Amino acid sequence: MISEKMQNAFNEQINKELYSEYLYLAMKAYFSELNLQGFVNWFDVQVQEEHAHAMGMYDYVIERGGHVELLAIDKPEVEGKTPVEIFEQVLRHEEFVTSRINALMDVADEVKDRAALSFLDWYLKEQVEEEASVGGVLATLKLIGDDKNALLLLDKDLQTRVFTAPVIG
Ligand code: FEO
Repeated sequence: MISEKMQNAFNEQINKELYSEYLYLAMKAYFSELNLQGFVNWFDVQVQEEHAHAMGMYDYVIERGGHVELLAIDKPEVEGKTPVEIFEQVLRHEEFVTSRINALMDVADEVKDRAALSFLDWYLKEQVEEEASVGGVLATLKLIGDDKNALLLLDKDLQTRVFTAPVIG
């Protein structure tokens, strides 16, 4: 059975993943208003991934005989006013999530929960991919600068992103 400390740490992370879903929903609305449908699609996939991340932990806490407690989700603030600024915020946010997964692994270490450590390994690898994917879009956006045609080409490219339900753990 999962320890109370580990369970509480998972419950906090479920909240962070659901907040991520909420933040990306807000960003999706920003790009909808600009009618950049490829970016809308990219954020839609991101929203579904964050939901899957939260549910992976939700199911895991239950599987380990723990208690899921859903915490209040903060209001998301989209800080940027341009696509570059928005993706800078996404990258900062993903780096924050990575730091939280590391902190969760520290708790697993502390309470000697090797099963949780092994489970969290998937999330750590996922964070490496998330940061790389976001960093890639950000680098392209910086190259594009004020070139509207290039922005539309990137938008077309982002339209091809497809959500695949992850097999977590
Ligand atoms: Fe669930 Fe994007 O971290």
